[in-house]
Amino acid sequence: MTRSRVLLLVTGGIAAYKSCLLARLLVQAGFSVRVAMTGAAQRFVGPTTFRALTGHGVATDLWGEGDTDPLDHVELARWADIAVVAPATANLLGKAAGGIADDIVTTLLLACERDLVLAPAMNDAMWRHPAVQANLATLRGRGARVVDPGRGWLACGTVAEGRMAEPEEIFALICELDDALPPRDAGATDLPLAGCRLLVTAGPTREPLDAVRFVGNRSTGAMGFALARQAAGLGAEVTLIHGPVPSPPPRGIGIVVPVETAAQMAAAVRERLPRADALIMAAAVADFTPDSVGHGKLKKESLGTSWCVNMTRTTDILADIVQVEKPAGLKVVGFALETENLLERAAAKLRTKGMDAVVANDPIADGTFGEGLHRVTLITADGDSEAIGPLDKRDLAARILDRLAPLLRPGGGAA
Ligand code: CTP
Repeated sequence: MTRSRVLLLVTGGIAAYKSCLLARLLVQAGFSVRVAMTGAAQRFVGPTTFRALTGHGVATDLWGEGDTDPLDHVELARWADIAVVAPATANLLGKAAGGIADDIVTTLLLACERDLVLAPAMNDAMWRHPAVQANLATLRGRGARVVDPGRGWLACGTVAEGRMAEPEEIFALICELDDALPPRDAGATDLPLAGCRLLVTAGPTREPLDAVRFVGNRSTGAMGFALARQAAGLGAEVTLIHGPVPSPPPRGIGIVVPVETAAQMAAAVRERLPRADALIMAAAVADFTPDSVGHGKLKKESLGTSWCVNMTRTTDILADIVQVEKPAGLKVVGFALETENLLERAAAKLRTKGMDAVVANDPIADGTFGEGLHRVTLITADGDSEAIGPLDKRDLAARILDRLAPLLRPGGGAA
């Protein structure tokens, strides 16, 4: 898998030399890197250094003069998956917060709608200045990620806060953002899931007991998120419907619909079903929901010494779709979580619920919830089964989708 395209924007601070190291770290890790520099930045480091490190021309000017990259500023802004300003001077932060575009770097910043990383570097008094902090707060509020400067020796000769973060720290944040983006080759038409409109559900549902309490489960959504991300990378048009989870869903995968209860998840799935070729039910949907929801927060004094909650079965989303309203040609993949007789019970679920494939998930063996290594068995309706893992959820999702791609793509047959 190729890594993201990083647009490295260098402004005029002595820390510009550290950006050369950042460019090298990125290139070595497989990122595509293009660089743009302000005039002031070029007084600290020459474009030749970045050209040699990245293997591409460096954008230095809005007017096509000098060592300008053949891509113009609008193309470069569109090309990037992640924009990084390192070092980001006080001047740059002010212009970015104010929407000013008066050189190649600020123009690219304004034209770029992707993830933005800022690595401020300046003198400590400038760093503390309320105007700089207000500009940073504005940029953070718009979604920019800031790698705060550290304390250390500053070019003005003092030891204080304002020194640009180390390249490794900025690199780590870029890697984190890259991990959350769909694989780079998403969108190509020759990909295994190109043209497949895929609905993925993920995470738990929460069934409210009163204004503050709910019945839930330990699902983290990680498996469904990994499947959604991987499917997008394989060319699928993904809609992800997820319950309340601790981490944000992957970005850039398509439509994301957050829901809370089993009933909301059922409604969200049904609404989108007519425009789907395949459904992967990775969500841990509550099987029961409380008959009544208390007004406000129920007080324990009024509940007594034991609290008996009557609950009613929720609609089985998957079974209901297959048995009642399945659009012609829709492929359905379910998950089965069992603590005993996993394979027999998973195969029985596949048959009774009418799935095309089931992913049998053993919660005891490898720790189903959250991080770590996991093992599953993929069973298809024609009776084939394949053990996959132990692998982390990302690799597991890749293997599951490699195996299921022939089934999931529109008009697809057996996996
Ligand atoms: N499922 C669903 N709607 C529900 C409950 C489950 O669509 N109300 C789906 C799950 O997303 C999963 C599959 O059904 O893909 C099997 O879920 P699982 O919890 O393993 O089994 P259940 O059928 O709910 O039965 P049990 O809890 O008794 O094992």
